[in-house]
Amino acid sequence: QASKLLVLPGDGIGPEVMREVAKLTQWLSTARGLRVEIAEELVGGASLARHGVPLRPEVVTLAKEADAVLFGSVGDPNWGHVAFDKRPEAAILGLRQALSLFANLRPAQVFPPLVSASTLKPEVIEGLDIMIVRETVGGVYFGEPRGIETLPDGTRRGVNTEVYTTPEIERVARVAFDLARLRGNRVCSVEKCNVMESGLLWKQVVSALHEREYPDVQLSHMLADNCAMQLVRNPKQFDVIVTGNLFGDILSDLASMLTGSLGMLPSATLGAVQENGKRHALYEPIHGSAPDIAGQGIANPLAQILSFAMLLRYSLKREDDARLIEQAVSNVLASGLRTADIMSEGMARVSTETMGAAVLQE
Ligand code: NAI
Ligand code: MG
Repeated sequence: QASKLLVLPGDGIGPEVMREVAKLTQWLSTARGLRVEIAEELVGGASLARHGVPLRPEVVTLAKEADAVLFGSVGDPNWGHVAFDKRPEAAILGLRQALSLFANLRPAQVFPPLVSASTLKPEVIEGLDIMIVRETVGGVYFGEPRGIETLPDGTRRGVNTEVYTTPEIERVARVAFDLARLRGNRVCSVEKCNVMESGLLWKQVVSALHEREYPDVQLSHMLADNCAMQLVRNPKQFDVIVTGNLFGDILSDLASMLTGSLGMLPSATLGAVQENGKRHALYEPIHGSAPDIAGQGIANPLAQILSFAMLLRYSLKREDDARLIEQAVSNVLASGLRTADIMSEGMARVSTETMGAAVLQE
């Protein structure tokens, strides 16, 4: 039976880099027996222009029915003036909420030919391969009470509240422990239990789950500020890091820069396992729509391609195809091809299309 794939290229460079994935999908279908039924829809600014909303309910329904969603990026400066919930970016937030995509997986990986704009010493990042699992639908970004209020004396006060419940912590910790078993078997749980009650509960719940269900996995705990420091000092000490929404947002951006370019980094966001055994999942590069380079054919397609590799691995359970693509990317980089964002001396500068074609060739 064919797997259902929903492809949402979005805005800016989204459609440009997605085109390179389409070539790979087609090749996998003819050469490796991949069976996918693909639906493609507009989201973000592209959907606003055509339908007046960033995310149509029909698209949400398709996303719910799909085995996996491959997302490009949304964001368009032309829509910068409209209300927050009507901006292009509301499409990705809406999908995360509608599918309850609570666990964001962000690998920070340095491919064998060292491609890095990082100024860290090569020995600090060479061969780096860590995974940050960030909780995405709870925590301080969504907790109540929230809002800006004016006090009787005219002082204004902005309020956000960090709230985490036992099930919210357990489900994301489970994702991290399961992943660790497929990788280096180590999880580092990150919070600030020294000053935050929600962090203290986080630590207790992760520890209890570990004892109960994952005693074979090595678990450590770290305060978030120390983790930031350790990620820069010695990132290779980590395998899987699991943390809440706010710390995960910051630490994963930090970790991404260890590897140099936004244009190389994929991500996955996973939801709960459904009754039919399937898990809602959305895959996307961590970069945005890059309006500054859109339409020039110079965007790096590797993050989108590697997001597709994650989709093959986690949603379609096609580990061999995922590895094949990752190896192809590695080979292409080793051969010296570079898009502008990762260009360095002595390398060959190529377009989005040439980079995609080279991966396909490999
Ligand atoms: P951005 O990631 O789009 O761009 C940041 C910088 O990195 C730019 O100079 C851009 O040219 C470069 N860059 C990004 N991806 C690249 C690639 N594949 N190849 C080569 N260079 C690349 O972040 P920015 O500028 O903060 O946001 C632009 C728009 O994207 C905004 O509307 C923002 O809200 C949206 N955005 C959407 C995301 C999503 O759809 N999940 C995530 C992040 C931002
Ligand atoms: Mg961020």
